[in-house]
Amino acid sequence: MKLEEIEQLISRYEKEGLELEPDREKRNGYMSKVSNYTEQFLDDIHSKKAFVNDFANDGAFDNFPFEEAPTNTDKVIDFLKQNVDRAGINPASGGHIGYIPGGGIYGAALGDYLAAVMNRYAGVFYATPGAVRIENQIIEWVGELVGYEKGFGGNLASGGSMANLIAISTARIAKNITSKDIENSTIYLTKQAHHCVTKALKIVGLHEIQLRYIPMDSKYRMIPELLAEQIEQDKAEGLNPFMLVASAGSTDVGAIDPLDKLADIAEKYDLWYHIDGAYGGFFLLCDETKVKLKGINRADSVILDPHKGMFLPYGVGIVLVKDVKHLLDANSYDANYMQDTKDYQQEYSPADLSPELSRHFRGLRMWVPMKLHGIAPFRACLSEKIWLTRYFYEKVQELGFEVGPEPELTVAAFRYVPKSGDANELNKKLLSIIHNDGRVFISSTTLGGEFWMRIAVLSFRTHKYHLDIILELLEDGMGGEY
Ligand SMILES: Cc1ncc(COP(=O)(O)O)c(C=O)c1O
Repeated sequence: MKLEEIEQLISRYEKEGLELEPDREKRNGYMSKVSNYTEQFLDDIHSKKAFVNDFANDGAFDNFPFEEAPTNTDKVIDFLKQNVDRAGINPASGGHIGYIPGGGIYGAALGDYLAAVMNRYAGVFYATPGAVRIENQIIEWVGELVGYEKGFGGNLASGGSMANLIAISTARIAKNITSKDIENSTIYLTKQAHHCVTKALKIVGLHEIQLRYIPMDSKYRMIPELLAEQIEQDKAEGLNPFMLVASAGSTDVGAIDPLDKLADIAEKYDLWYHIDGAYGGFFLLCDETKVKLKGINRADSVILDPHKGMFLPYGVGIVLVKDVKHLLDANSYDANYMQDTKDYQQEYSPADLSPELSRHFRGLRMWVPMKLHGIAPFRACLSEKIWLTRYFYEKVQELGFEVGPEPELTVAAFRYVPKSGDANELNKKLLSIIHNDGRVFISSTTLGGEFWMRIAVLSFRTHKYHLDIILELLEDGMGGEY
């Protein structure tokens, strides 16, 4: 092809591609429509349902395929409104009191928007020193909150499951568990450990390891004496005790294992001590709960989810490792094409501390709200949730409900046991009444083979009236029948 023809082609494609570079007027047009939608969403959030029980597929997605030509902005937003922002759980609602909520504070959306527009590369220090410094400043702050001394390292991963995965792969390298050691090595945990822990073991190739589920006390906490006994027995059988996984707030019932006592045992037997504080970790911010997490600083690795306890939108979980060397050993790699980055390395790069290279600049979604609002309101919101849970726990008992263990943090389980008839059926019926109403959403679990309802109060938008709605629905649902 002649050079002239090549130039014509370039010019044609450049013009066609300009659709991807809207000018300011067009950008403002997009922005005003998006912002009209999000403003209305936030204005209505307190009256929007927390759960819409409608899973029918009316073919809307099939009828809205991708096309070569652009689609009108109003149509795009309307489609999202009708087909995404409607059915199922509404995690932005304060009525979301199921699973483990968080809410999604607005400041984080601004951080995400800024990060996406700037598109600063936060994987490597050389690429954007400022972005990496922001992420490291957050890691520093969270490490200090946990009580780690200098020398720790960490990473902002995409969530708790990824954070646990990074911790577990690090533990494996640190303790040098090679393929021939797997079947003879042991991991200690309880049935309250989050399922992403065993999932992570599978992903890192440790699924053939010996899992030791240690019995729990009446508050679903690991019994240290039985842990020690099990380790002794395993050692006597020639096995290799490798790792202890404790919960700092289990998903199911909010149980906190005796972290300090477990640390003594981990130290004595030279285990890698990992603490899952995805849900409970940020309760270190509150005087009411800090003391319950005593010993968390003794973990070799710990995770905390800002998209839970710091109310950020989904997409960020933090892993910390007490000795950064282990995190580096497990994740740092060299490549010829990365050689230019080395001379400028003043701080650790996220790429050296995690499996990711190119990644979202997650730090900004946390840094912006921490700066805009300060730390005090985060602390206050968490404390409010602690007392709301307490309030509900007392009130539901006044209605005659049986309750699970006294809440350590903000999860409480409850059920009604009728004088006659099937308790599980009755409680399922009560849950479906709450789901069909939709103003609030709660979830259920199975404890001791029985069906229990549970609340998890963690959205920053959850206030007392939401708990009162649950209590009202329960009372009405009972209808004096039982
Ligand atoms: C205790 C605990 N660990 C881990 C996870 C998994 O976190 P993620 O959903 O962010 O992957 C959760 C999620 O609820 C959790 O509660």
